[in-house]
This record gives sequence, structure tokens and C-alpha cells, in this order.
Amino acid sequence: MTPAQRWLLPSARAIRIGLACAVVLAGLLVTTVFIHQLIFPVLAVFVPQLKTTFYDIAVYGAAPVRRYHSVDSQPPDVSVLKWHDKCDDDGQIFIGPYGPWVDTPGPTILDARGELIWTTQDFNLVTNFRMQEYRGEQFLTFWSGHKEGAKGKGVMYMLNSRYEVVHKLQAVGEGLYGDLHEFQLTNDGTALITVYNDTTIDMRDFGFFRGEHGWVTDCLFQEIDIETNELLFQWVASENVRPADTHYVQPTAGFSEAAPFDFFHINSIEKDSKGNYLISSRHFHTIMYIEGGTGNTLWTLGADSSDFIDVSATPGAATDFCWSHHPRWLDEEAGIISLFDNGNAGPLHWDRPTSKGMLIQIDRTKRTVKHLQDFNALHNVRSNSQGDLQYLPNKDEFFMGWGGSAMWTQHEHNGTLLCEVHFAPALLYFLEKVKSYRVFKSWGWKGDPQWPPRAAIHEGHLYASWNGATDVAFWRIEGRKEEEEDVGHFEEIATVSKVGFETAVELPQEGFSRFRAVALDAQREVLQHSDPVEPETPESPLPVILGACAGVLFVAGLVGLLRYLLLRREFLRAIFPWRRRERWEEYEYSKL
Ligand SMILES: *[C@@H]1O[C@H](CO)[C@@H](O)[C@H](O)[C@H]1NC(C)=O
Repeated sequence: MTPAQRWLLPSARAIRIGLACAVVLAGLLVTTVFIHQLIFPVLAVFVPQLKTTFYDIAVYGAAPVRRYHSVDSQPPDVSVLKWHDKCDDDGQIFIGPYGPWVDTPGPTILDARGELIWTTQDFNLVTNFRMQEYRGEQFLTFWSGHKEGAKGKGVMYMLNSRYEVVHKLQAVGEGLYGDLHEFQLTNDGTALITVYNDTTIDMRDFGFFRGEHGWVTDCLFQEIDIETNELLFQWVASENVRPADTHYVQPTAGFSEAAPFDFFHINSIEKDSKGNYLISSRHFHTIMYIEGGTGNTLWTLGADSSDFIDVSATPGAATDFCWSHHPRWLDEEAGIISLFDNGNAGPLHWDRPTSKGMLIQIDRTKRTVKHLQDFNALHNVRSNSQGDLQYLPNKDEFFMGWGGSAMWTQHEHNGTLLCEVHFAPALLYFLEKVKSYRVFKSWGWKGDPQWPPRAAIHEGHLYASWNGATDVAFWRIEGRKEEEEDVGHFEEIATVSKVGFETAVELPQEGFSRFRAVALDAQREVLQHSDPVEPETPESPLPVILGACAGVLFVAGLVGLLRYLLLRREFLRAIFPWRRRERWEEYEYSKL
């Protein structure tokens, strides 16, 4: 054996140490999984107060969902971390869960406690899902399309109360697509959308060897006519700011078309009563106020490019927001703006210990700005992306979606946290695998679906639901007698109050050949009935028998393998210390 060969041959001692480490690690892993997945859930049955903590450390999974018998959508199963009766307010929550761990993404309406009202898988990934009024009628509005990194390529949808697509808006211009960041209807009956457009600019002032023909993602916003999709106004970031002033650090971007530099990152637009636009640039850390018609910048607000002097009690508190989202006029006359201040944008940009909502107030004549109010969660939460802060005028409260962190909160005007609801485990927020770009709360959505209610039978119960119907108050369960099959007559079995999304009713054991669920409104008037469903046929025992056989074979195989390995002296020599080997050798000899 050459020295090189000897060196390559691991010594028996090294093998033993390696194997011992592997055994210890595997033991630790198995113990952790055992405690996490078996002890904790059982413990939570006896100590229910632990459930929210266990939810947040993923004991119930990395993306807990609710499952139903009558529909196959799986909305998030929420965890209420903090609750106040003020949040039990008939409000409806508009959320668009998405991310690698979300199996059924899509626009989703929940009630205030997180119970499903409507969801669909027809649109896949959506953002900005909410209710907006257009010409006196309520619509469900959202963006749907492909997400490419931080930008989106898609279209804007408007659905009526029958969940039919009434308007489908596109970005205007060759090669331009509607982006996921904004879809805001104006009081003028028009729509505001963001557009991200990859293009080339002179990037020499970005430094780091970037050239005259560098690649950037330019940001546009467009105001378009809802009826005709005609372009009414357009604003282009690269024509109005100096791109190199960005705060975003993207060392590898700008050199090729495949990796353009996202210098501006527009993420919100609002048109005010004066016809001007309030927009947000995440990567400039600014709120800009753009004149309608001319597109001139009237003022810029932000840490180091501000037209306002920060006169907050704590210096800088009004202008130190960064990587923020969703500035909105709370009170145009008084100059009060609400926004979601992320304070973070992932690696290279973990700038603040926590994200928060905030209110600031500008004085236009004195050109000053001051900080009014912060809105904080129960614990520090860093949302590296997305998020919104919404004023609830009917309650004088605030509602906040935490974007990349799967949660929403509701606050009093003075900042007091009323409620905090998580829709994925907090421990894993930093991975952003389950999220909703924004979350909104609204009142009065009336859904009148064009599809009938659904009924499903499972283990002696009928499960009734009607995805998207908001008027159902009772379910009447009806059955058809076997002998009346020809007559088609259904008789009442039970009438129960609707409970949650899917109501379960126990069925009589025999006598009926068909069942159906009839949706009733609060006055017990019939709304619509489901298609009839047949009672369960007893399940075949074959799968159980096959499963048992497979189990026995598996265990027998395992025992055989262990026996084989244990009787191999070479194997034992490699694992066990010498002295033990002797014992086994004795054992082996004794067999001779
Ligand atoms: C979008 O980018 C293309 C280059 O890819 C450019 O020709 C075009 O002018 C841009 N559109 C706008 C509206 O800036």
C-alpha cells in the first residue's frame, strides 16, 4: 500500500467517531421531532394557552390550512395571538395568500375571526385584493399574473357581486404589463396602476464599473380609463429622479438584461381631491407628491431628500422611514399621512429592529413634518417586504397587513394594539414562504354566487357550504325516500344555523337515497339548493388489509436487515469499541 492509499483509508477509529456522532445527531433529531410533533400537540390539549405559541413555532405545520369536505380550497388556518371584542365587528378581511408553501393561492375573503367566506383558485397568484367602489357599485379588485422577482406581469381584474369578471385592465404601451404593486380606483372613475419596465440607461454614476448602457427596472405609473382602457396620464421614474440616488444595494445588478437594477421600486399611488398623486418609492425611502397633468414633483418627503424639516419630538421620527409601503392621505386638509414602515428589505438592508405602521403630519406652509403615531405588533416583527396600513373610517381604528410576515393587526387611533392574528408561524416569517402583499378590512361585501351551494357526505354527516354567499343564515338538510325516487320529493330532515364556512349535520342511518342542502336567509326564505348527493357506500376493507400486509412485510424486512448486520463481524468491528467486539466474538464462537 502506498502512503497515499493509506491516507485515503479511514482508520477504524475515525469511522467509529463518525458513526457515534451520526447516531447522537439522529437521536437528537428524532427526540426533537418527537417532542415537537407528538408531545407539544398533546400538551396543548391540556394547556390550550400554549396553542398560539405552538402555532408560531410550527408545531401545526409550516403553513397550517383549513380543509373542508365540500370544497377543495385550503385557506390559511389562523392563530389569534391577541383579541379584543372590538375586532369582532362584522368586518371582512381581504387577503391574497401566496408563496411557495401556499398550495391554493388566490383571492380570499375571511370574516373578522378568520373564517372563510370566499376563495377561488381561478386566478392563482393575486395581490392587492380588496373591495372598491366604482360607479356606486362594489367590486372585488385585484392584480393577477406572474411574479418575476419583485415585479409583476399581469392584468387587473374587477369582479361584481356574482363573482363575474366585469373589467380586465391592461397596462398601456408596447411591451408593458400591469404590475402587482398598485391597483387603486380614483374618485374620477379611473384606475391607477404601477408598471415595471426593464430598460437601459447610462449607469456610470452608479459606480462599480457600470457602463453607459446599464440595465435598470424603470418604474411607471399610469392612470387609465376603466371603460376603454385608454391611457390618461403616465409618469416615469427615470425622467423625474436621478436613478443613482437609490438606497438599494444590488451588487450584481445593472450589468445585463437578465439582472436589471431595481433603483426606484414604486409601490403605491393615490390620487387626491386636487388631482395630484401621492406615490411611494421603496428604494428611495421617499413619498413624492406629483402634480396631476404636468407630472411635476411638487414635493418629496423622506430622510435625506426631503423638502420638509422634521420637527418631531424625537428628531427624525417623521422622516426616518425606510423600505416603506402604502402611504395614504388620512386627512388631506390637515396634511396627515399613514404608511407602513418596513425598516427592512432583507440581507444588506436590515436597517431597523422592527417594522411598524406610522402617522406623520406635514405643514405645507411652514414646510415642516412631525411624527404623530406608531402602530406596533405584540413582538418585534421585521417585514422585509410588502405590507399596508389602512384607516377604518367607520370605527376610527387602523388595520395593518404585515406583508412578508403572515399576519394582520388592528389598532385604536392612539396606537393601542387591539388584535393580532397570524396566518403562518412567526418563527418562519423571515423565509417569506407564506404571505399576502396587502391585507384589507372592509364592510358590506355582498356575494351572490352564480354557482349553487355544495353538499358532501362524510362519515355519517352532511357538510354544506356555499362559497362566496353572504346571505346564508340557515341550512335545511333534506332527504329523498328510496320509494319516492320517481316522484322526486325531498323532505326536511333538519334545519340548523349556519356555523362557519361549512356546516355539519348528522344524517339518519337509513331510509334515504338522496340528500341535499338548502341555503336559507335570515328570514328562512329559500335561496338555492345544492345538487343531490348519495349516501356513503360502506368502504371496501381491501386498502386496510393491503396496508396491514405492507406494514408486516416492512417490519419483517427491517428485523431481517438488523439481524444480518449484527451478525457481520466486520460491521461490528467498525462500530463498536474493541472490548465489546470481544464479547461479540465470544458470541460468534459460542455458536460454532
Ligand atoms: C420601456 O422600455 C423600453 C426598452 O425596453 C423603452 O424603449 C420604452 O421607451 C420604455 N417605455 C417607457 C414608457 O418608458
